[in-house]
Amino acid sequence: MKFFLDTADIEEIRRARALGLLDGVTTNPSLIAKEGRNFWEVVKDICQTVQGPVSVEVVGLNATEMIEEGKRFAKVHKNVVVKVPLIEEGIQACRELVSQGIRVNVTLCFSPSQALIAAKAGATYVSPFIGRLDDISQNGMDLVRDIRTIYQNYGFKTEILVASIRHPLHVVEAAKAGAHVATMPYKVFNQLFQHPQTDLGLERFLADWNKVKDKIFPEQISCL
Ligand code: G3P
Repeated sequence: MKFFLDTADIEEIRRARALGLLDGVTTNPSLIAKEGRNFWEVVKDICQTVQGPVSVEVVGLNATEMIEEGKRFAKVHKNVVVKVPLIEEGIQACRELVSQGIRVNVTLCFSPSQALIAAKAGATYVSPFIGRLDDISQNGMDLVRDIRTIYQNYGFKTEILVASIRHPLHVVEAAKAGAHVATMPYKVFNQLFQHPQTDLGLERFLADWNKVKDKIFPEQISCL
């Protein structure tokens, strides 16, 4: 499974990249707005910080605007993936951008039928928003499983990029469901490492070791 960060914060991207576990980044207008910096500079900085796909979302509401925006985004860096919303105009834009060799992430997917449409339109990625489905008492992970079944049935190449991830269990469940990518906030990325028993175990090992280390672990290796 590929790990993407869902952020436009360069510092977070740097920290995740340093661990060698980061495969890409997704952004959306809300995340970029949060940075309060020049849009083009933010996109360029992200592309220079991560080696992998960087999703950048259009804000136009008709296909012509989306296609124009998408073409401009794609010129910024070869790793840019154009993100379009799963509405009729977005699907039209997806087809056109894909036909021009530009990769597309179809976002705001909330149903299996929408995911089927995205795949038929040649999307590189489809982004089911699982947290927002959970928010309204629908099981977000059921959607991921349904999409996986449908894509397998027909051999669609579109990758399932699970978005709106809120906690580590979402990542685990998405992996069990066979999703290709999980995009997550930096906080969740960090939480993937954590287990209280790991911390406790380490604390105990070190406490035992420190009690005797001067006796059994001299600085000089005299017996070798
Ligand atoms: O990329 C989509 C993601 O940022 C949405 O997450 O937590 O706002 O539903 P959330």
